[in-house]
Amino acid sequence: MTTFKLNGREVTVQSPADTPLLWTIRDELGLTGTKYGCGIAQCGVCTVHIDGQALRACVTPTGAVAGKAVTTIEGLHSKGAHPLQKAWIAAEAPQCGYCQSGQIMQAAALLKSKPRPTDAEIDAAMNGNLCRCMAYVRIKQAIKLAAAPARARKRVKA
Ligand code: FES
Ligand code: FES
Repeated sequence: MTTFKLNGREVTVQSPADTPLLWTIRDELGLTGTKYGCGIAQCGVCTVHIDGQALRACVTPTGAVAGKAVTTIEGLHSKGAHPLQKAWIAAEAPQCGYCQSGQIMQAAALLKSKPRPTDAEIDAAMNGNLCRCMAYVRIKQAIKLAAAPARARKRVKA
């Protein structure tokens, strides 16, 4: 058994300690916003926050989060109204949507540490989050929109 905080609530799970956190979150705890893609930390669709850091749930053993705070896309904002979620909608960032929760969680960690990231910092932070629909331009626009709403809004319209 492993006990940790999930989206602000303490949970105790039965999954063996070596079960990837992704499967514990999806199968045992029923939160399916975190997706499975590669399973080897190469695509970013399974990104969650562990003690505030963006990490890949597919390669994180459940036992490794004992006593830690895990946040998934469902817990980013109680009403789905995190500035990034609003910006994502405004910029119409998703295409198929599969990669998007991972993209948003990665971007959220970036904005927490760098509220006004440069283009280069956005590129560096988002580099490991792949999008098979190639929605990268709109994803970047959405991050800028969330980071600097007034300025970015003008750019999005331009
Ligand atoms: S499924 Fe975890 S990085 Fe691809
Ligand atoms: S929106 Fe389809 S994979 Fe990114």
